[in-house]
Amino acid sequence: MKRLRPDTARPQSPEVITITSSPQRPQKKDQKPPWRLRLSRGRAAIAAAALFSTLITLLLLLLRGTNRCYNLRPSQRLILTASHLRSSDGDLRLQIITHNLKLLFHEPSNEGLLPPLKSIVIFSHDGDESTLSTIKQWKLNNQSIVHQVKLVPNDAINVDVSKWMAILENTQNAQVMLLNDSFLLLRPIPELWDCTGVCGLGWTAPKGDASRHFQSYLRVLSPCDVNNYMYFYKRHSHSKNVQELIQSLEVNLSWTSDTKALYECDGGHPDEDEVQRRLLTKGYPAMKLKKFFVTSDPWLQLRLNNETASGISPSLDLDVYRSKNHDLNHLSDRELEDHFAELGWKENRVYSTLPLVMKRWLREELESMVAGGDVVKILEEYLVALNGGNRK
Ligand SMILES: *[C@@H]1O[C@H](CO)[C@@H](O)[C@H](O)[C@H]1NC(C)=O
Ligand SMILES: *[C@@H]1O[C@H](CO)[C@@H](O)[C@H](O)[C@H]1NC(C)=O
Ligand SMILES: *[C@@H]1O[C@H](CO)[C@@H](O)[C@H](O)[C@H]1NC(C)=O
Ligand SMILES: *[C@@H]1O[C@H](CO)[C@@H](O)[C@H](O)[C@H]1NC(C)=O
Repeated sequence: MKRLRPDTARPQSPEVITITSSPQRPQKKDQKPPWRLRLSRGRAAIAAAALFSTLITLLLLLLRGTNRCYNLRPSQRLILTASHLRSSDGDLRLQIITHNLKLLFHEPSNEGLLPPLKSIVIFSHDGDESTLSTIKQWKLNNQSIVHQVKLVPNDAINVDVSKWMAILENTQNAQVMLLNDSFLLLRPIPELWDCTGVCGLGWTAPKGDASRHFQSYLRVLSPCDVNNYMYFYKRHSHSKNVQELIQSLEVNLSWTSDTKALYECDGGHPDEDEVQRRLLTKGYPAMKLKKFFVTSDPWLQLRLNNETASGISPSLDLDVYRSKNHDLNHLSDRELEDHFAELGWKENRVYSTLPLVMKRWLREELESMVAGGDVVKILEEYLVALNGGNRK
């Protein structure tokens, strides 16, 4: 299949738009208009065709403007997992994906009434032959939760979105769950399929806040919001900057017909330590892999207690900060320092070669959960890999 490239994406053709709006399409082009007496047959046909296409265009613009959806029953449910496998941490990524898919396939017995569930995993990798054979073996061993694997080239800017797009282009009337490999599920979430527009996990800000959105590591889209999403993506895919892309595709939800999140905003962004803590005790179903550890840095404790005059940790390493934080890779050294002093230090980001350790309250919380044992095990392995990678 052809891969979407930002710089070659063309404006949407009308055929694609009609997928969302075919039911009211007029039937015949050759109905004779009343003024045919004054026109030759040929001209009448041209005029009728022009009128017809203008009407269709207006109708489509109208539907597009309102992101209207025809809520037909989807004929299948599709889980699309996007992942980049490096030879260094590929095995761990596969464990994370397997863990999440197992929970996603865990549905109550009456779910037979829902459309069938299919799972496709889309990988890019760093070209290593052994990674390829690992993927093959993994697919063979996990056939009940991995129905298809697709390999695509890595796209450093459109990371997961470009992978989902490679499949979305060819879906028809499917309700689609889009996820990447940046988090672990803590429980099954069948309620997320009970969704007519676009549904996500938790809101990041209170109602009315312009930055309110839910994060894109896990969302469910109705069949017609799949089309809205592709249309919106194509219009914004010229972006060369990750931050801009996040702003347009994650934060801006204007392309959706309707949005709903399982959890209302709990006083702040779900990644903030205090909020994360409250949400988890209320059953919040996911744990981001970026947000379960802290850097073991004495400066951090001083900073938290306002006991240091310096806004920057003596251990801040700009190369590490840039390479471990995908969304900051466009910033200059100076901008990185400013970012750290203002926000980064309290966002539990990787910024140094100091060891990372699991948040203590989180370990205790997880150990009291049903699926928590598995999660703690994967998180511990993940930390070992992170700490190994950081030491260089
Ligand atoms: C999935 O694949 C992995 C690696 O090949 C294997 O270790 C694991 O047992 C499989 N999981 C299931 C549920 O079959
Ligand atoms: C997965 O999604 C999260 C949240 O939107 C994002 O921060 C992260 O970069 C994504 N990971 C990949 C590999 O695309
Ligand atoms: C979202 O995108 C639409 C369409 O490109 C644009 O008109 C609108 O201003 C954007 N909204 C925000 C909050 O950026
Ligand atoms: C540190 O200073 C900030 C801003 O002045 C304040 O909000 C915070 O409560 C202080 N923290 C402590 C532990 O005193």
